[in-house]
Amino acid sequence: MIVCSCQLIRDTEIHAAIDWMRAADPATVITPGKIYHALGKAPECGGCMRLFVATMRINGNLGVPAELRGLRDSGGDRHEGRSEGHRLPEPGAAS
Ligand code: FES
Repeated sequence: MIVCSCQLIRDTEIHAAIDWMRAADPATVITPGKIYHALGKAPECGGCMRLFVATMRINGNLGVPAELRGLRDSGGDRHEGRSEGHRLPEPGAAS
């Protein structure tokens, strides 16, 4: 299935990139930008980001490295000072 129609990126390419990055560095934080970079491409319109991230999330190798888990609940400002309009929606939250 094509996930990004601007760059013709398929879900299988996203999963392959995640698996490759996780195998190369078990502690890396995998982002959509890193996947685009690994595939030698760059996003254009950004219209695919919701589906792109959803595709990433079903990959078992996407997990956050253990040393970075729990940072969100470690106290302090959860949104790092970003204004509400610039925050990513919580997973499962209605948009
Ligand atoms: S559809 Fe992915 S950047 Fe446009």
